[in-house]
Amino acid sequence: MIRHIPQQIVPLLLEWYAANARVLPWRSEPTPYRVWLSEIMLQQTRVEAGLPYFERFTAALPTVEALAQADEQLLMKLWEGLGYYSRARNLQKAARIIVNEYGGQLPGTPQELQKLPGIGPYTAGAISSIAFGYPVPAVDGNVLRVLSRITAYEGDVLAAGVKEKTAAALQAILPPQAGDFNQALMELGALVCLPNGAPKCLICPVREFCSARRRGIENDLPYKAPKKARRIEERTVLLLHCQDRYALRRRPAEGLLAGLWEFPSLDGHRETDDLLSQLSAMRLRTGTIQSAGTAKHIFSHIEWHMQGLWVECLDYAAPEGWVWVTKQELSAEYPVPSAFKAFTKQILS
Ligand code: ADE
Repeated sequence: MIRHIPQQIVPLLLEWYAANARVLPWRSEPTPYRVWLSEIMLQQTRVEAGLPYFERFTAALPTVEALAQADEQLLMKLWEGLGYYSRARNLQKAARIIVNEYGGQLPGTPQELQKLPGIGPYTAGAISSIAFGYPVPAVDGNVLRVLSRITAYEGDVLAAGVKEKTAAALQAILPPQAGDFNQALMELGALVCLPNGAPKCLICPVREFCSARRRGIENDLPYKAPKKARRIEERTVLLLHCQDRYALRRRPAEGLLAGLWEFPSLDGHRETDDLLSQLSAMRLRTGTIQSAGTAKHIFSHIEWHMQGLWVECLDYAAPEGWVWVTKQELSAEYPVPSAFKAFTKQILS
């Protein structure tokens, strides 16, 4: 386990951070709401990719109250493309609790923060230290990578208990400017101590205190035990079009991509005869059918291998709950997850 982290890295990292930190909107104006939102957005998203989402989100919903009251479809549209949509739903659930039980102000301690939906130990530590100045650690995958190298920790960083033990080791060296120190570790992970065996040790402010570098094993760390293979699901995605409209249906309220809109699809890659009988069973009156190419989307546990088909429809008959939308409505109103991006792009092009 990561037990001992050299104290000498603290002033070096603080100094490096003061000179090298990127100017980011949640740093220029670190209100609890903005810090919270940034931490949730950046959980599965790189800073550069998250930035435009952050700007759009805070412009549309600038306060906890606005988030608490936001229309669900708007919320999903603001999150469209970021993935892991339960993050957005949890944000809203937590915002409602903050409004109803905390008078609209986020609590500041990690213990209170962790009671809110979507806030685990990492996010609680980040918000508490960055927005409130509490001296608490925040250990995510990036920080773990940096510290596994500094301490030459060769065990599996994904194993149970590693994050907690690392947080305890960090607590022992944490300076009063914990928010800056935590962000310095994140920033080092993002700019210098890069993943996939590509650390830029020559420009690293703490290279002298890095055990992995001393032993020449920096490219081999962090070690992660191999994960279980993802399940592959084949799907036939139907781009049903009638005049200037396209068919969408809503996904079930529970499970993968819950409540978002999608192009109707069938499981498996279907042959023509089978497809035609499925279409007529759905009471669709169809004309020509053409290939829309193939696409793949990778979720954490599943891969979708999709075969797209353009299916001309002769009228707007369709199963209950489906809607026929224009291109304009598809792009501006209906949240369609980026799993379908290859097809959405063809329609909107
Ligand atoms: N990743 C997660 N939180 C971050 C932060 N506050 N700054 C930069 N990258 C981050």
